[in-house]
Amino acid sequence: MSHPSIFDFEELPLAPELPSTSQVIDMLQAQGEELKALYSAADRVRSRFVGDEVHLRGIVEFSNYCRLNCNYCGIRACNRQVHRYRMTPSQIIDMAFRARVYGYPTVVLQSGEDLHYNVETMCHILEEIKRDGPLAITLSIGERPAEEYRRFRASGCDRYLMRFETANRELFAYLHPDDDYDYRMSCLQAIRDAGIQLGSGFLIGLPRSGMETLANDILHATRMKLDMIGCGPFVPNPDTPLGDARLLEDTEVYYKAIAILRLLNPYAHIPATTAFDAIFKDGRNLLLTRGANVFMPNITPRDFRPDYQLYPNKPCIDEDGDQCALCTRGRVHAVGRKIADGPGHSLRPDWPDRNVT
Ligand code: 5AD
Ligand code: FES
Repeated sequence: MSHPSIFDFEELPLAPELPSTSQVIDMLQAQGEELKALYSAADRVRSRFVGDEVHLRGIVEFSNYCRLNCNYCGIRACNRQVHRYRMTPSQIIDMAFRARVYGYPTVVLQSGEDLHYNVETMCHILEEIKRDGPLAITLSIGERPAEEYRRFRASGCDRYLMRFETANRELFAYLHPDDDYDYRMSCLQAIRDAGIQLGSGFLIGLPRSGMETLANDILHATRMKLDMIGCGPFVPNPDTPLGDARLLEDTEVYYKAIAILRLLNPYAHIPATTAFDAIFKDGRNLLLTRGANVFMPNITPRDFRPDYQLYPNKPCIDEDGDQCALCTRGRVHAVGRKIADGPGHSLRPDWPDRNVT
């Protein structure tokens, strides 16, 4: 171990200067006592900086149409196996109402990159939801012109989620035959410039990548000073060009990446992402004890769920919103935490004055 001092977590938070790529690689290779120290430090930093409350964000997957062909994703445009669906604006607005009923202070509206929902339609949906009463709204609908992000903000969009997927340009190009890394980053900057709280992140364990790419993705996410950092394991999907890829041999690396993100980003919201449940039993619960402080229960109507399988083994496919609501409460309590009351806006002390780098 060339930098043993990186495992000395007595002094937290870590020094303000970022660790080097090789120091992060060392942390990703932690085993035994060092690994325990990493997880407990992440849990302590989480508790001290973002508290013991878990923020719930109800997610509605309102359309699985997508114009892009990301090579890892089950709803990529070319996948003819998928039965495509779109919810109507009034169905989507109803789902936001359900979110309130379940006691979720935030609704996340997610879809494939589906331009059927143009800026007018999306603004109408945002305004109607806000008219019904207080509810924070997160959009996750992909790359749009900067002007549209500004209009979303003016109509009530509080937050936006869009992963950069990886900061390794060659890998980004290989994974995204019809997308561009610089354009993705310019969209993320435009979202922030529009005054929207920004969530982004990357896939852990991508094919053609190793610990160096992962370490650099962790550092990139950190340099972006994100309000929310959402990352999950890449789960090979047999209906995609990357169907033959494999999971990482050291499956602890998935958790280590999140724990390191917490140490480097004490104030960020970090969700226990759904894909952790696809490869670990109760993976999301465990992640809540290793740095995560957000949980995103699914409120998509049950009939649509089997058609929104970005990756195999996605949890909650046979459940409905009621079951996920009950299950979520049980999970939060099972790990000894409480459910937050407020909307869970950005906790970063520098928000909203910072730039995407
Ligand atoms: N495994 C894990 N996550 C995936 N996503 C898409 N396909 C997969 C997969 N096979 C993630 C992407 C995208 C988010 C909505 O879902 O990171 O940003
Ligand atoms: Fe959906 Fe547990 S959160 S069934």
